[in-house]
Amino acid sequence: MQKTWFDTARFGMFIHWGHSSQQGWELSWPLVGGVFSLPYCQDVPINLYHQNAHTFNPSAYSPHEAWARFAQELGMQYAILTVKHHDGFALFHTQQSEFSIEHTPYRQDIVQQYLDAMRSHGIRVGLYFSLSDWHHLDYPAFTEADKPYRFDRLPQPSPQQWQRYLEFLLAQLRELLTNYGEIDVLWFDGGWERTPEQWRASDIHQMIRQLQPRCLTGDRLPGCGDFDTPEQFIPAHPPARRWETCLTINESWGYNPTDRQFKTARQLIHTLCEVAGKGGNLLLNVSPMGNGEFPPEQVERLEVVSAWMKHYAESIIGTEAGLEAWQFYGSSTRRGQRYYLHLLMQPYDTISVRGLPIKQIASVRSLKTNQPLEYTTRCAILDTLQNPDPLGELTIQIPKGEIDPNATVIVVDLLPR
Ligand code: GLC
Repeated sequence: MQKTWFDTARFGMFIHWGHSSQQGWELSWPLVGGVFSLPYCQDVPINLYHQNAHTFNPSAYSPHEAWARFAQELGMQYAILTVKHHDGFALFHTQQSEFSIEHTPYRQDIVQQYLDAMRSHGIRVGLYFSLSDWHHLDYPAFTEADKPYRFDRLPQPSPQQWQRYLEFLLAQLRELLTNYGEIDVLWFDGGWERTPEQWRASDIHQMIRQLQPRCLTGDRLPGCGDFDTPEQFIPAHPPARRWETCLTINESWGYNPTDRQFKTARQLIHTLCEVAGKGGNLLLNVSPMGNGEFPPEQVERLEVVSAWMKHYAESIIGTEAGLEAWQFYGSSTRRGQRYYLHLLMQPYDTISVRGLPIKQIASVRSLKTNQPLEYTTRCAILDTLQNPDPLGELTIQIPKGEIDPNATVIVVDLLPR
């Protein structure tokens, strides 16, 4: 597997935004009556949902300031925007239909503005694109008669309709891959509604390879993809290949003020540490409101994460998975001969790390204050006598003053190799 920027990016921003955000409705799912995985999702008549597109006019949308700068302050390395969700509405200018931002009072190409902003802040860019389209007549569009949504009983197209839909889909993808410069990630979704053969997934994949050879894709283009995308979940064991957990701050993807189930900033920080410790990336979702601003409850939490990252980003960004779970009760990451220990609980007395080459320990310190920490080492008695480079146990004193209320980080340096 060739190394890419994605392998150690560790932190990205997912942005779920659409015309439904004007009303505080979740993206797409309200129009099919909701879904089990989104407890606060509304149920909205289909016509009413789609009509909402006509008034979309995000006056305060300022991706440079509000989005990209924030992402940069958070230490995020990449961003993924929903340029088309299952509701079929395109946030980009497209020749393939009139169901796009171009035909709203706002008119401007939101995707272009987003790309410019992120790129100018050095953030890699990705596009979320739903394969399924509940608005397109040939898909075919979801109707009131199809409610409630059932995964095992979906409206099916005729062969002619499907042919036309696939042409439409490929043409939109081609626009995205040719009109907007280099795209770092194409994040597909909605693939569960058809088979890999119906999607002609390998043709799509080939087209991406041909138009943008460096563009990565997730596993939701059925049967293809460069990385796994566990949703709302940290895998118990790190997957064998690249992976990225996507996670919401509350229980909704799009802006939904009825959902007050916010995670705490500390929970978000701990999730980031755990994901990095297992060698994955965290794609943390934000849900802009209809005007383009992030909701205050999300900003409040992200500011805490950002303040934490000011001191500790070094232990997350650009690192590899750290120690094995049996070696340390917490998560940890690694950069060469340096280990970062994430204390996700307050120690009673000391903390211990097992299975380290104890003769090679060069220093132990607190990352935030640089304060050297007292430590002792030991190994099996006979090893002390016979083995010049034994594996043993490191026990570190953690003074109360070094405890960070969100997550303390300890740096253990081994001698250079
Ligand atoms: C799901 C949902 C969707 C959301 C996505 C993000 O598959 O359909 O609403 O965009 O997950 O991972």
